[in-house]
Amino acid sequence: MSKTIYILNGPNLNLLGQRQPELYGHDTLQDVERTCTAVAAEFGCEIVQRQSNHEGQLVDWIHEARQNAAGIVLNAAAYTHTSIAILDALNTYDGLVIEVHVSQIHKRESFRHTSYVGLRADAVLMGFGVNGYALATRHVCEMLTAKG
Ligand code: DQA
Repeated sequence: MSKTIYILNGPNLNLLGQRQPELYGHDTLQDVERTCTAVAAEFGCEIVQRQSNHEGQLVDWIHEARQNAAGIVLNAAAYTHTSIAILDALNTYDGLVIEVHVSQIHKRESFRHTSYVGLRADAVLMGFGVNGYALATRHVCEMLTAKG
């Protein structure tokens, strides 16, 4: 069984570390990748981390994950709140889906309180800062390792 986990990031997260640091902190996606790679390695798992500002690209990567990944850690960023296309793609996927948000979206504007991703996600982490990615990765690894 595949022990690859896709960590997919949506729009503007390429600017993590520079963008609104009071909300999203100073760590970059490269820092996230380094941390999650180390967590996954503890379990003999591996991660593939990607980021796109384009909805269709995220849909394509979710389709790719159908063949290649046993779990998806997804921060769809603003598409979380708008994208039925991403929800539909996630509904074609059989593995674990963990929704991650760096900020606690329920403390923010009401338009962020709706999550289409949440209609499919098996678990949701928000408000843990970038540590949410590592926590989510650890959870997926534990589930995969438990299954053998
Ligand atoms: C975010 C929260 C979203 O509402 C926002 O559009 C983002 C980042 C987060 O990680 O906290 O771009 O997903």
